[in-house]
Amino acid sequence: MKQTGSPPSILVDDIGELVTNVPELGEDRLGLIRDAAVLFVDGVVDWVGPRAQAPSGAEMRHDLGGRAALPGFVDSHTHLVFAGDRAVEFAARMSGEEYDAGGIRDTVAATRAATDGQLEATVVRLAGEALRAGTTTLEIKSGYGQTIVDEQRSLAVAARHARETTLLAAHVTPPEFAGRTDDYVRMVCDEMVDACAAQAKWIDVFCERGAFDRDQSAAVLSAGMRSGLVPRVHANQLGPGPGVQLAVEVGAASVDHVSHTTAADVEALAGADTVATLLPGAEFCTRSAYPDARRLLDAGVTVALASDCNPGTSYTTDVGFCIALAVREMRMTPAEAVWSATMGGAVALRRNDIGRLGIGCHADLIALDAPSHLHLAYRPGVALVREVWRDGRLVVR
Ligand code: NIG
Ligand code: FE
Repeated sequence: MKQTGSPPSILVDDIGELVTNVPELGEDRLGLIRDAAVLFVDGVVDWVGPRAQAPSGAEMRHDLGGRAALPGFVDSHTHLVFAGDRAVEFAARMSGEEYDAGGIRDTVAATRAATDGQLEATVVRLAGEALRAGTTTLEIKSGYGQTIVDEQRSLAVAARHARETTLLAAHVTPPEFAGRTDDYVRMVCDEMVDACAAQAKWIDVFCERGAFDRDQSAAVLSAGMRSGLVPRVHANQLGPGPGVQLAVEVGAASVDHVSHTTAADVEALAGADTVATLLPGAEFCTRSAYPDARRLLDAGVTVALASDCNPGTSYTTDVGFCIALAVREMRMTPAEAVWSATMGGAVALRRNDIGRLGIGCHADLIALDAPSHLHLAYRPGVALVREVWRDGRLVVR
C-alpha cells in the first residue's frame, strides 16, 4: 500500500543490462539480468526481473533505452569533514617526497580554525560531487578535529549528510599531546568517546607506525565498543603491522587500506567476517604500491572498494575511478570491482538493505551511458554515470 509523501511508484524499464547483486536473480554473483526492469514503490525495490515479465500498474514509467544499470555505489570510507587542501603537499610528493601522514596535522589546524558553516559547505560540495558520480550511500569519518568540541562538530556535520558516521579521534596524536600519545589515548578513551558516541555509529583508529600501536589501538576500539560503537580499523597502509589481525580479533566490520599484508594477515581475514576495504585512490595519490586484491580474493576474503576521500592521500569522490584503478592495478576483474564498490561496501557497513537490488532494498540505482557495467573499468576517466536514483527518486539526471 502506497504511503503519502513517498515518491510515485515507477517502473524503470528497458535496462539493457542490470546488475542486481542478487545471485539467484541472474547470471553469476552480480545477478546480471539482460533486458530488465525494476519497480520502485515507496522508495524501495518492489519487483525486479526480465522486462517481459514486468508487472503493470506503476504510476510512472521511465525508459533507460537499453543502457546498463547497477546499484548505487556504497562508499564505505571517506573523510569529508575538513578545511583547506594539501595540493602543495601532493605536488611535493609527485616530485619525490614520501607520504608519512604528517600533513594530517595541517588539516587538523585548518579544521579547528574553520567555522561550522565552512565545514558544512565542504561536506555539501563533496557529497554532491559523490552523488553525481554515482554514490548513493556515504560513510563519513571525523578525525581532523581531535578535541572533544571539534570531533563533536565534525560528527554533527557528518550526520547531516550520512547515516554512517565514524569517530576517528585516534587519527594521529594532536600537537598539544606531542610526545604524549598515551595521554591522548587515555583522554580519547576516558572522555572523548563518551562525549561523541551519540553522533557516531562506528569507532575507527589509525593503527600504523607513527600513529597508534597495537595496545593503543586496542584501547580506543574497546572504549568505543563499551559506548556501543562498532569497530573498523585503518591498518597496514604504510607498512606491515598488527592492525589487520587486531581488527579480526575485535570483530571489526572492516579493516581498511590493507596495502601491506603477510600470509598470516591474509589467513586471519580469510577465516573472519571482517571485510578488507581497499582504497586505491590512496595509492594513486601517494604513488605507492597497490594492495594485492587478487591474493585476498583468491584466499576467500570479502573485499570492498571505497574512495577514502580526504585532502591528504586521496582527494577523489569518484568510486568509478577507484573501480578502474582496482581492475588495472590490483588484478581485480571488472565484475569483482563492481561488486566490491556496491555490495562489498554494504557488507563493510553491515547493511543488507543497500548495495543490491533485492526486494525491499533501498531503490538506489545508477544508469550508465554505456551498455554494460564492464565499461566502468574499460572507459577510465569518462563520466559514465548518467542518472542516479536514490530511495526511488531521480536525484541526478
Ligand atoms: O585514510 N591513513 C590515515 N588517514 C587518511 C589520510 C589522512 C590524511 O593524510 O589527511 C587515509 O589515507
Ligand atoms: Fe582513510
